[in-house]
Amino acid sequence: MSAAKTPARVVVLISGSGSNLQALIDGKQQGELPIEIAAVISNRPDVQGLVRAETAGIPALVLDHKQYSDRLEFDTALISLIDSYQPDLVVLAGFMRILTADFTQHYAGRMLNIHPSLLPKYQGLHTHQRVLEAGDKEHGVTVHFVTAELDGGPAAIQAKIAVLQNDDAQSLAKRVQQQEHIIYPLAVKWFAEGRLTMHEGRVFLDDELLPASGHLIVGEEAL
Ligand code: GRF
Repeated sequence: MSAAKTPARVVVLISGSGSNLQALIDGKQQGELPIEIAAVISNRPDVQGLVRAETAGIPALVLDHKQYSDRLEFDTALISLIDSYQPDLVVLAGFMRILTADFTQHYAGRMLNIHPSLLPKYQGLHTHQRVLEAGDKEHGVTVHFVTAELDGGPAAIQAKIAVLQNDDAQSLAKRVQQQEHIIYPLAVKWFAEGRLTMHEGRVFLDDELLPASGHLIVGEEAL
């Protein structure tokens, strides 16, 4: 098991608004996260997350996937850029790219993603709408280690919320995001402290094997 370095160096990948990035910046500024955000990289120019990074004094970089002829070429350039910051952890925070197996393998055990569903349910897009259409009574969000399978890596933390009678996709998204901003900083903190690890596709917290759902947090009293 790798010993934790303090503070852990983190590179955050984004494509958009960066509210999860902001939760990490806030946690760090409040002294709750033993991390240094070494760089924020977006595959899209002009997104709000880049402004959030600049405001916090973090190097904010764009690597535009449209400038590359194929996925492999982009991912290879992305690896070079990320590794120039020598991160202990890569955090995908709304990074809207399908990653090559080479990329996920390169960061195996040191890359996290957040996905707005109770994985393994609802991999992919439009999760809130799909939950409503299925008539599910509960919904939530998962932080997981990234493997070659899209939204398929083993879970670290899940937060559950109740689906209420009047919910629409927007109201669900809002309540799920509130949970995102709690569990993503928590997972990053545990990783940075050396407490959260992945070995051979299984996730451990303090050397205890976590269940398939990861560490479970019931986000709202209604459940
Ligand atoms: C979040 O809903 C996250 O679950 C999904 O992408 C969204 C990113 O939001 N992977 P933000 O850019 O962090 O605000």
